[in-house]
Amino acid sequence: MKIETVNLAPDLKICRIINGMWQVAGGHGYITPQNAIPAMTSYHDAGLTSWDMADIYGPAEEFFGKFRHDLEQSGSDLSNLVGLTKFVPNPGPMSKNLVQRAIKNSILRMNISKLDLVQFHWWDYDDPSYLDALRHLTALHDEGKVLHIGLTNFDTRRMQIMLDEGFEPVSNQIQYSLIDQRPQVEMESFCKKNNIKLLTYGTLGGGLVSERFLGAPEPTQADLDTYSLQKYKNMVDAWGGWSLFQKLLSTLDKIAKKHQTKIANVATRFILDKPEVAGVIIGARLGLSDHIEQNKETFSLKLDSDDHHMITEITTQANDLYDIIGDCGSEYR
Ligand SMILES: NC(=O)c1ccc[n+]([C@@H]2O[C@H](COP(=O)([O-])OP(=O)(O)OC[C@H]3O[C@@H](n4cnc5c(N)ncnc54)[C@H](OP(=O)(O)O)[C@@H]3O)[C@@H](O)[C@H]2O)c1
Repeated sequence: MKIETVNLAPDLKICRIINGMWQVAGGHGYITPQNAIPAMTSYHDAGLTSWDMADIYGPAEEFFGKFRHDLEQSGSDLSNLVGLTKFVPNPGPMSKNLVQRAIKNSILRMNISKLDLVQFHWWDYDDPSYLDALRHLTALHDEGKVLHIGLTNFDTRRMQIMLDEGFEPVSNQIQYSLIDQRPQVEMESFCKKNNIKLLTYGTLGGGLVSERFLGAPEPTQADLDTYSLQKYKNMVDAWGGWSLFQKLLSTLDKIAKKHQTKIANVATRFILDKPEVAGVIIGARLGLSDHIEQNKETFSLKLDSDDHHMITEITTQANDLYDIIGDCGSEYR
């Protein structure tokens, strides 16, 4: 199976399915380094060699650093290994020292000489210090500590301000799924115009978008055993509720059966086919569950116009999440 890759920048090639590491930060079952790090090898050996993490994802960067060290020791080829991390500072003034220290810590934890991509998150738009942080990140890029600067959960309005100030982020990481199609309203055209790529999360709704929930009675929050499932069940509620979601799952199941694949593959392919989307991040509960071979099937799936028509028939019945929540990332503010 050929792994789809894409250049996020001329010198940064990533897999179009990226392994997400939020799941190691807690609330997704008991994940230990003893189980997680060997599990990372299975992804790597299967060709899924790009990882998404953050300075705030518990031990994620350390797991990556240990994994990278083990690969190095075993003489493995590291050229395809990509670690995308995030800088998620607490609100407040952004001094050069603070930003330098945060990046240095990520470099040390990840056991790497420079960070491939630092995706910057900011909690409070009323505080314009995010522009200071970007200035310091740019200086670290110029010094060779950061290969590229990306963003996460920024809206188009703030991205325009950044571009006006001369910053050139290569990507924005946002929620994008069959349920949450807010990026279509403004973000996609903005990114196209400014050559910025999208990396997406929530594409599988934490696992809601799968056979496991097809025909299932509506779960309560207590029934849902991961933070991720709980988070995206709230999105389903805002989008149109459980009965409309069941209609969507049933349609996806029909499409999946037609192509001899699974619901998750249809959902992932639908987002990967969006022109500005560089990659879909799929959360990995390392050592607890494993969908590697199934997710690789997405690369050989082609959706046709009938499939798109069937999906649109359902999604057009849903509420407008842009109206309810706002542009991308507004759910964090
Ligand atoms: N920037 C941000 O603010 C932000 C926010 C959230 C997430 N993220 C990033 O995105 C990543 C993705 O996390 P997410 O919370 O959005 O979760 P997600 O990717 O929507 O869901 C992941 C879950 O889907 C299930 N799954 C995966 N492949 C499957 C398949 N082929 N068939 C059936 N089920 C499958 C697994 O559940 P089981 O393990 O139960 O089988 C897995 O744990 C995170 O790790 C993180 O890197 C970023």
